[in-house]
Amino acid sequence: MLYSEKVMDHFRNPRNVGEIENADGVGEVGNAKCGDIMKIYLKIENDIITDVKFNTFGCGSAIASSSMATEMIKGKPISEALELTNKAVAEALDGLPAHKLHCSVLAEEAIKAAIKDYYDRNGIEYDHSLFPEESCAHCHE
Ligand code: FES
Repeated sequence: MLYSEKVMDHFRNPRNVGEIENADGVGEVGNAKCGDIMKIYLKIENDIITDVKFNTFGCGSAIASSSMATEMIKGKPISEALELTNKAVAEALDGLPAHKLHCSVLAEEAIKAAIKDYYDRNGIEYDHSLFPEESCAHCHE
């Protein structure tokens, strides 16, 4: 079996799908190679991510990764969300096939982009090294 049960579960019943009106931060990233796009919306109160939703126009692994990633950052402080790596997301899904790992990178990058958007909108100082320029360096396709 190529995909774990968790991947199939999150793919079939993705959590937190949709949009948040008046979101505090929105991040959109695309994968230049496959053309898939992921958009994440965050509601933030006192540094806590109180709500998160996503829309993905992408493959099943991208949907499963976004679903899992949103579950992992909901209710967490921004600092913890910033530490979420695509590896942690893939592990939480009980693994992704090697050629699908880049799909989970999309989730990590979209969350970071949404947090950066929140910081920018509110004029909050941040460490720019936390937000490397979007690149597809991770994609090995
Ligand atoms: Fe593009 Fe999965 S193939 S994100």
